[in-house]
Amino acid sequence: MNRAAVVAGIGSCLPARSVSNAELTTRLDTTDEWIRSRTGISTRRYADQGSATSDLAVGAGAQALKSAGQTSVDVVVVATTTPDRPCPGTAPLVASQLGMTGVAAFDVAAVCTGFLYGLANAAGLIAAGTASSALVIGAETFSSILNPDDRATSVIFGDGAGAVVLRAGDPEEAGALGPCDLGSDGEGQDLITVRAGGSRQRLSGKAPEPGDEYFSMAGKEVFWRAVRRMTESCRAVLDATGTAIGEVDALVGHQANQRILASLADSLGLPRERCLGNLAEVGNTAAASIPLALDHAHANGELRAGQRVLLTAFGGGLTWGSTVLTWPVLSRA
Ligand code: UT7
Repeated sequence: MNRAAVVAGIGSCLPARSVSNAELTTRLDTTDEWIRSRTGISTRRYADQGSATSDLAVGAGAQALKSAGQTSVDVVVVATTTPDRPCPGTAPLVASQLGMTGVAAFDVAAVCTGFLYGLANAAGLIAAGTASSALVIGAETFSSILNPDDRATSVIFGDGAGAVVLRAGDPEEAGALGPCDLGSDGEGQDLITVRAGGSRQRLSGKAPEPGDEYFSMAGKEVFWRAVRRMTESCRAVLDATGTAIGEVDALVGHQANQRILASLADSLGLPRERCLGNLAEVGNTAAASIPLALDHAHANGELRAGQRVLLTAFGGGLTWGSTVLTWPVLSRA
């Protein structure tokens, strides 16, 4: 029998500081009306100076372990665009802080698709017998790379973390991850990027070109690529599992923009009300957005055991990915 990776626990963590649209209007040339109508976002959270991605990841990971009734796993995967440091990865620190020194731990860098790439990696390790359980965390301190003068990105992104525990199980049981569709297009690397600080544009002792140390995004160019790639990717996993779109009870898409999610639902032929998410309250939290949205929808009862759930994301790289599962019975930490 094939071993599947089965969702066994879930958790999330948000920093305390809430930043409303109104607060952003005090320092940026923008309005609450523009942000709500063009993105669907009302507020987002920012971590305080001195706290880092690992702090949020540990908070979400601890909740997910508790929800699964476990104190340890065989591998910890942290998907992030904003690691604590360029080197080493954040996952070993997170594993140690969760009391799991000695287990395998590594980061995944696929920007907003990072959590789905992380799930696919962990599911592969479980299927191969390398691991019997995994903690997959999406965590971001995006506020640390935002250009405070760039209204186009500052109004969108926020900080947070979400996590799931996976265990080895039966492909037919609730919670088993279906096949993952993953893809990329490096020709679009400049559309979502931090230009300076890597080996291409080195910072060794020099100041970067103004603004190049910050995250930048060509939003308009990304918008329709996001809709097209997520639509194709969703169709690939629906085809692979013989699932009709009418059988999908909930779509949890990367929380980037409410208009993107509406267009995605329309192009898939899915009623828009089946799109679940928390974009209005947390903004775009990149790699954290899908597990955060899942945890919140699970907590508020929108996501119920037995529902067929389609997950899809698109982000920098460019990257995209999707998977499908039947939501299991989970306890809350
Ligand atoms: O998470 C990873 C993947 N990312 C995405 O999927 C994001 C995809 N893109 C988007 O969500 C949208 O493109 C944005 C929300 C980033 C921008 O929305 P848009 O409807 O595409 O706006 P736009 O870039 O076409 O800009 C329209 C106007 C421009 O002014 P002009 O040239 O028409 O005079 C912008 O300068 O809105 C202006 N603008 C703003 N105005 C007020 C841009 N940002 C703002 C702002 N407040 N914050």
